[in-house]
Amino acid sequence: MDDVTDSVFRRIVRSAGSPDLFFTEFTSADGLCSAGRPRVMDRFLHTAEERPLIAQIWGNKPEHYRCVAAEVREMGFDGLDINMGCPVRKVTRKGTCGALIGNPSLAAELIAAAKEGAGELPVSVKTRIGISSPTSEEWIGFLLAQGICALTIHGRTVAQQSKGEADWSAVSLAVRMRDQAGLSTRIIGNGDVKTAEAFFRRAEETGADGIMVGRGIFKNLFLFRAIRNHTAGFPSEMTEFSHLDPEHKISYFHRHLSLHRETWGGRRSFHVLKKFAKTYLTSFESQGKLMDAVMRARSYMEAHAALESWLGERVADRHHFLTDS
Ligand SMILES: Cc1cc2nc3c(=O)[nH]c(=O)nc-3n(C[C@H](O)[C@H](O)[C@H](O)COP(=O)(O)O)c2cc1C
Repeated sequence: MDDVTDSVFRRIVRSAGSPDLFFTEFTSADGLCSAGRPRVMDRFLHTAEERPLIAQIWGNKPEHYRCVAAEVREMGFDGLDINMGCPVRKVTRKGTCGALIGNPSLAAELIAAAKEGAGELPVSVKTRIGISSPTSEEWIGFLLAQGICALTIHGRTVAQQSKGEADWSAVSLAVRMRDQAGLSTRIIGNGDVKTAEAFFRRAEETGADGIMVGRGIFKNLFLFRAIRNHTAGFPSEMTEFSHLDPEHKISYFHRHLSLHRETWGGRRSFHVLKKFAKTYLTSFESQGKLMDAVMRARSYMEAHAALESWLGERVADRHHFLTDS
């Protein structure tokens, strides 16, 4: 997820409960082949802890796909994914991402170029079910015919953006079409999976080979742990981040801030971290006051200090409570 799943957050997620694989933020193949390359390359920064890791790219120039795919292979990624789903106007008006659903001939050229550059590295596609209305059968059939190793389907149209509920029928359809064609393409379903129960229900209903989780990680940082423990019968409180005590939640936030400064200090804005505040500062008394203080912070130091000061006040309150009673 753009501005979310950078190397730092992937490491945090890995430590909280591991998914089977990660994807990078979507990364412009055109940008990588331009003068702005060093900044765009930051999106591919990763450590061994984040493997298996798939590099996701977008753009509309086959020659750039060929070249970037070859680089991705050399950089040690485990696969290359092509974004054919992002609905953001800034990218679709250039005819890329979600707009490619309406331009199969360019989509085919891009996939072929990526495969050529990637060599043995698996090439996959992530897409939606249509542009303004679902065109799943035609579009999925077309993508399956391109010889990709995996296909992720987010059950919304481009026009829907993030609105409404994801329609998973296209995921079941893709599984059936793949089986009928006797192909080995892995089908991955995506959209609105926020709990371990939803994860297993969707997998069972659709027969998908994998489930991709996006925003669900904001709601429960332990979601992948919950999914892994689902059948192991672990107590549920171990798999709900919100059940941790505030000190423990705050220690995750401290770690995120420290890793971000170590990794990006000066290269990526400190302010992007504020979008994670709700994930860490959840379900405890006076969280609102702490959240306000974090939102006012202008630097890593101020954010660390806000967290420490809240913890200090909490200890003092407890002390008063014990001595007064
Ligand atoms: C902030 C944000 C950034 C996103 N960035 C990307 C991206 O870079 N590449 C991508 O394939 N999907 C991206 N998505 C879409 C998600 O991967 C996912 O398809 C969508 O949110 C639906 O799944 P979910 O309900 O599990 O989040 C992004 C979504 C959000 C909310």
